Amino acid sequence: MNPKLVPELLVVQDIQKSYRKKNKVLDGVSLTIRAGECVGLIGESGCGKSTLARCIMLMQGVDSGAIWFQGNPVQASNRESLKRYKGQMQAVFQNPSAALNPRLRLLESVMEPLDQLEQKVPAFLKDCGPDRREIAGKLLECVGLSRELLDRYPHEISGGQKQRLCMARAISVEPALIIMDEPTSSLDTLIQSEMLNLLKELQGRLAFSYLFISHDLPVVQYMCDRVLVMHEGRLVDEFVKEELFAPDRHPYTRQLVAEYD
Ligand SMILES: Nc1ncnc2c1ncn2[C@@H]1O[C@H](COP(=O)(O)OP(=O)(O)O)[C@@H](O)[C@H]1O
Ligand SMILES: [Mg+2]
Repeated sequence: MNPKLVPELLVVQDIQKSYRKKNKVLDGVSLTIRAGECVGLIGESGCGKSTLARCIMLMQGVDSGAIWFQGNPVQASNRESLKRYKGQMQAVFQNPSAALNPRLRLLESVMEPLDQLEQKVPAFLKDCGPDRREIAGKLLECVGLSRELLDRYPHEISGGQKQRLCMARAISVEPALIIMDEPTSSLDTLIQSEMLNLLKELQGRLAFSYLFISHDLPVVQYMCDRVLVMHEGRLVDEFVKEELFAPDRHPYTRQLVAEYD
């Protein structure tokens, strides 16, 4: 089937990726994400989830296979379309401290994606007018942070607040897709559940799709409509979350379920 004819947002086709010749980290991974869909990716540590995320984000090349976004192949893109692709896709990673420039105040940090992509103020912030401080303040408020934090540096806020700031950066450009790679794994349980609810609330409001990566089955089940299961670099199972306990689940998925019994 020609993916160009399919209205999916993201189509990943048969990706292979090795770090060394013998070490095949991704072995024929294919997936699709439709507009507005919340898709989970689960699998044990080391199975290749972050590698897949980095390949989709074009932070790493693939050995073979293709990635299509909104019907266009991204690997063959010219500079203009690559910029558009990157503007439509944002990521939130596990360690928010590594994602933030320690020398930038939160005001500059939260404005970075909009500045880099030279994008206009997004529709959901158009009431703010052109004032940077106003836009940045509103973005902080969208993720439940006080605008009084705008002049602080990352080391002056908590881990949970940093991850909220990363979320504010991600939504600032109104992306069609956000890749979230273990976004709450570094947070305490209470902060983690607050963050998950915030992500859900933002998704409901702004209608982006997300790929939510985690090794934690209950979290993925809570956050996602559809779940992909990765094992040793292959996707071995895929199901809508209501079918987690269906009899035809892959043995590896059943093993994951058993860990939480
Ligand atoms: N830059 C790299 N160079 C060599 N091996 C790597 C690199 N990044 C990841 N790996 C290896 O690839 C495998 C998959 O890693 P990763 O994608 O981080 O898995 P996950 O996110 O599921 O924990 C692991 O065996 C890891 O050690
Ligand atoms: Mg990982």
